[in-house]
Amino acid sequence: MLVLVVVLVAGFSITSSTRTTTGTILRRDRGDIKNLTKQLSIGLIGSGFMGRVHSNAYRQVNGFFDLEYRPVLKAVCSRNQETLAKFALNWGWEAAETDWRRLVERKDIDAIDISSPNNTHHAIALAAAQAGKTVLCEKPLACTGAEAREMVTAVEKAKVPTFVWFNYRRVPAVALAKQILDEGRLGRIFHYRASFLQDWTINPELPQGGTALWRLDVDAAGSGVLGDLLSHAIDTAIWLNGPILSVAGATETFVKERVHQNTGKMHPVGIDDACLFLARFGNGSLATFEATRYARGRKAKNVFEINGENASIAFDFEDPHRLQYFDHRDPAHLQAWRNIHVSAFEHPYHKHWWVPGTTTGYEHSFINALADFLEGLENGKPAQPDFRAALQTQVVCDAVLAASRAQKWVVVGEA
Ligand SMILES: NC(=O)c1ccc[n+]([C@@H]2O[C@H](COP(=O)([O-])OP(=O)(O)OC[C@H]3O[C@@H](n4cnc5c(N)ncnc54)[C@H](O)[C@@H]3O)[C@@H](O)[C@H]2O)c1
Repeated sequence: MLVLVVVLVAGFSITSSTRTTTGTILRRDRGDIKNLTKQLSIGLIGSGFMGRVHSNAYRQVNGFFDLEYRPVLKAVCSRNQETLAKFALNWGWEAAETDWRRLVERKDIDAIDISSPNNTHHAIALAAAQAGKTVLCEKPLACTGAEAREMVTAVEKAKVPTFVWFNYRRVPAVALAKQILDEGRLGRIFHYRASFLQDWTINPELPQGGTALWRLDVDAAGSGVLGDLLSHAIDTAIWLNGPILSVAGATETFVKERVHQNTGKMHPVGIDDACLFLARFGNGSLATFEATRYARGRKAKNVFEINGENASIAFDFEDPHRLQYFDHRDPAHLQAWRNIHVSAFEHPYHKHWWVPGTTTGYEHSFINALADFLEGLENGKPAQPDFRAALQTQVVCDAVLAASRAQKWVVVGEA
């Protein structure tokens, strides 16, 4: 009878397949339900791609995760006055502002979420820290390591909680890779191989500047695919495989000038269209990283493979709920790459989502990240990466650009 009640509460009809997982369902639903006692009023800056993704996360998180904190969608800010009111209405923001400084000054806001172009992160983070706000920031943390260091100093001086949205850590299959590595199943690591490939800037007629296309303007972006795509790969790699000690790299800008939307005139293109680098990790492994927006047919081919003495793992974001695993210690006649469907309650994050065999996708990685962040506030163990941890990635990016310019190996500086 107890089983029946719990299963009905969990909202499933009783079928043979749900019966087999009843034990897990019981475990999932047992325990004290926390009171949603603490409100965290959010001021979001940016109503573009990440503005939508973060708004969705704030709205969804308490429906799936049992937390004390409840984000309140207090006010959103962006430059685009025409679309801002509709954005606020559609996503349930209580108010809208067009000047981020006014948003930061508001007394009814606890946390500032920086989801605007990279060149705005530094000034907003400094002002938010000064105002005593919690600061969440999109990646890359800043345009340069120097800016990022100032941001770390400011938030540490103000003693405010921080978080950087390196969401790929929260893809369940990537978190499972971390678990497998922490369990020591791979043994000594020899190789780390990562790439993040896209193809949307091949057309030379594409302008630079403006929504989304600020990525092609070095003044707004700081760098090209290095900061935009490889920062994700570097953050994941450091998390999985430890610190990067030295790098050697090359960058290329295939389209040398583009019309700038601000002036209507041709301007030189200052970003890297493609970036490749070699790296040595502290654990002795050797790595390759590659990112480009000129890989025709590739839209968001974000992949990595790690080879250890006993086993290997591989991940491909085009198939995000799969983790490939090969274990040399399996009996020889059974050795093969396992194709793990990461969707069981036992897999990272999945007990919070649907029934085994069903999947989650891109937006869930942000909801998982937000849940970790709110839980970190609750238990006093800050979710990672915070600003200090994300500085490591920024320092590696600086070293890659320095190595590429100097055409030699460069030692990665202190974070
Ligand atoms: N974690 C991820 O996977 C991921 C994915 C995409 C983008 N990002 C990061 O998120 C940030 C935003 O990127 P996006 O793709 O959402 O860009 P976008 O161009 O879609 O949106 C940018 C928004 O910022 C607003 N904005 C620009 N300057 C502003 C200012 N001075 N004051 C207030 N608002 C301003 C614009 O009006 C727009 O609403 C960047 O740092 C980017 O690197 C992260």
